[in-house]
This record gives sequence, structure tokens and C-alpha cells, in this order.
Amino acid sequence: MDYFVKPVESIKGEIKVPGDKSITHRAMMLASIASGQSRLTGVLEGEDCLATKKVFEHLGVNFIKENDDLIVEGVGIKGLRQPERELDFGNSGTGIRLSSGILVAQNFATELIGDSSLSERPMSRIVEPLSLMGANISSNQGTLPLHILPTSSLRGITFSLPVASAQVKSALLLAGLYAEGYTEVKEDKITRNHTETIFNEFGIPVEVNKSKNSRSIRVSKSDKINPKDINIPSDFSSAAFFILAALITPKSHLRIRGVGINETRIGFLHALRHMGGKIDIQNIQNGPEPIADLLIESSKLKGITLNTKLVANMIDEMPAFFIAASLAEGITIVKDAEELRAKESDRLEAMANALGSLGVKFKLNQDGIVIHGLGDKGQFKASEINSLGDHRIAMASSIASLRADGEVRIVDCDNVGTSFPDFIEVCGDIGIKIKEQ
Ligand code: S3P
Repeated sequence: MDYFVKPVESIKGEIKVPGDKSITHRAMMLASIASGQSRLTGVLEGEDCLATKKVFEHLGVNFIKENDDLIVEGVGIKGLRQPERELDFGNSGTGIRLSSGILVAQNFATELIGDSSLSERPMSRIVEPLSLMGANISSNQGTLPLHILPTSSLRGITFSLPVASAQVKSALLLAGLYAEGYTEVKEDKITRNHTETIFNEFGIPVEVNKSKNSRSIRVSKSDKINPKDINIPSDFSSAAFFILAALITPKSHLRIRGVGINETRIGFLHALRHMGGKIDIQNIQNGPEPIADLLIESSKLKGITLNTKLVANMIDEMPAFFIAASLAEGITIVKDAEELRAKESDRLEAMANALGSLGVKFKLNQDGIVIHGLGDKGQFKASEINSLGDHRIAMASSIASLRADGEVRIVDCDNVGTSFPDFIEVCGDIGIKIKEQ
């Protein structure tokens, strides 16, 4: 299915975006292995999280939908049962990598599969460290399917992340709940900390040590996890498309209510403010996962050299960031972002194609890009963009269309449903019309 998007004069109003994808996955998993009932509020019902839910149903967990909440009848840390078939994680890297941490500790075998995009993504990054812990896990030359067999002993290790990946960190910490001794993960680039936070919420002891440029996170074996009701905030990564929309559309004023503003997630907000973006944070509510309202106004942006420390904290927002940079005055330089090549698509390549179609000048590098902004009065060329089946490329391109000189066609947008099933409706709420065909 393709999107057709026309430019708009301005964006005004107030919206709410759906629940956080990363936190929904983690809440479903922890609640599944807790002993008793947990109530999850604000769950994202995107295809990725629904795939994780289905997987845990196959593993014997019962989920009950009650109004907007999801009740999870946790089976206990040792209560999962052998599934009757392979476990299909669809498009979801988070689902498969985090679940592997739990599955390597079970006394039954599993086969883990995914769709064509997930089947090409790197899995050695979890297979190798989990094997060091004694797991019996193998891949097909670093890709799917994964085969997991029971192991006689899982033991804690100390592991320094070679790539900045919260998925790898989380897979090891989850396996650490079943391993003898301590499991310690060290990161020199701070990645999203939702696993550590939700462990705390479920009463699982986590020791976090910070030094100037690194963090280490340590867990040990758990005999029992108590159930916990979890409030899931709106996803900052989904909000980012609307932050972009309001910044780049003239005469705009937008409020996004109740967005998760966890510091390890909002690199995009810091970078855009640095470029001159008017983004105000209001009504902060502190909690394990802090939330706030975001107020955004159209802004004149200027190019920047992106601080490489922000990259891991805005990795999913990079496609939107590239669009902002393309409409800034001057040059924007992004380095140290090679991880973008290992996402649902090669996002450096996919965005280079999109920017090319939109008439932007840029230089693509192996680990980043240099973008020559069109400036405040600049307009994109009405054109056709291929999202390559990647939800974030599809949504970033849709928003870019608001500043095009005519209608833009975005090809292959079905995957928007993985993270933001009601994207088109939310767009409609503030006057952005997207035709699907
Ligand atoms: C996620 C971590 C990030 C991110 C993904 C969600 C998570 O991936 O891109 O969308 O929930 O842990 P990496 O850990 O591979 O960087």
C-alpha cells in the first residue's frame, strides 16, 4: 500500500500518540514471567508488540484485554511451556532479541523466525554473548532462524557492548535473571534504559554504576518476580514525526500530550533545540518513566554537527532528523551512526534515496551523512519515495511531503502498522491528509 501526501498551510491542535513500543515489549515479557496478574495500561497495539504477545501466548501465557488495559496472567519465572510451533516475531528486532534472553534459559527447544526484513538483520550480536553465558543458541550464519536448545547451566558474564544496542544489553540482562552469579553489561555509549527501569518496577534488584563516560548494569538470578501494574507512556519515537511536522510547517503550533521523556530517548529533542527548534516541555510528571506535554512551534532551523553522544539516544529518530536537516540553513553533519544500516532497512541508504528524490544535496558516508539544507524557504520536489517497507522511512517521508511543491507518493507503507497503527488518523486530527492506495 502507498501513501499520497499533499503539503499543508499550517498545523494546529493537540494530539496524543500511542504507547511506547520498547516499554510495551518489556512490560509484556516481564509480566509473562511474573507470578500472578499484572495490568498494563497504555499498551501499544502495533504489529511488533502484538507479535511478542502472540509468542508469549504460544509459550503458555494468557492475556486478557480489559477496556484499554491488558491483563497478563504471568506464569512465573519457570512457568513457560514448550510451544507447539516455531515462534514468529514478524518485523520486530526488539521482540526477538529480548525474548532470546528468556528462551535460552528454558528447559525446552524453540525455533525463532521473522519476516523477510528481520531475517536479514544481524543476530550474532546476541548469539555470541548468550553462548558465552552457556546458552545453546545457533543462527543461520548470523541471521534467522535461531535455534535454541536447553542448556545444563547458564552462568553470568561481564560483557562490554561492542555496538551501542539496548536490545543486546537487554537480552543479556534477561538471561541474567536465570544465570548463576552476576551478569554485568558495560556500555560506553548510553543506550535506552527501559529494561533497567522496568526491572526496578518489578522489584528485581539492578545495580547501575556510572562513571564519566560509561555505565555498567548488574543483575543476578531471580527465583520469583512479583506481578506489577505498569503505565506505559506515549512513544517519543512516534511523537518525533509530529515534532518534525510542526517545526517545518509555517504558522504551526502543536501540543503533544503525555509523551515519554526518558533522557536516554530524547536526543532528537536536544538536537532540534540546538538547531533552533522551539520545543517546550510542560507538565512534567516524574515517575519510573517520566512523561510531559511537548509544545512545538514552527521554527527556522540551522545546520549543526551532531554531537556523536546523542546518536544512540535518537537512533530511531534519525530519518526524521535528516528531514529537519534538509530544511535547515547550512550544513548538517552526522557521524558515528553506522548502526542505522542494521535497522528495519539500511536507513542511511533508504534516506539517501528519499533525500535524492526530494531534491536535497547530500554526501553519504559509511557511518553517516552530510546534508546541505535547503533553508527556511526551501521546498522539496514533489516526487516518489520508496520506504523499502520501513515504518520510520515511510513516516519521515510523509511528514517531509508537507514542505514539497506538490503531492509526494510514498511506496510500500504497510509497515507503519508495526509501530504506529493509527498514524493516518492522528495526521488527520491536525489537518494532514494522507490518501492510501
Ligand atoms: C530498541 C533498541 C534500539 C531501537 C529499537 C528498539 C529497544 O535498537 O532501534 O527500535 O527497545 O531496545 P538497538 O538496540 O539495536 O539499537
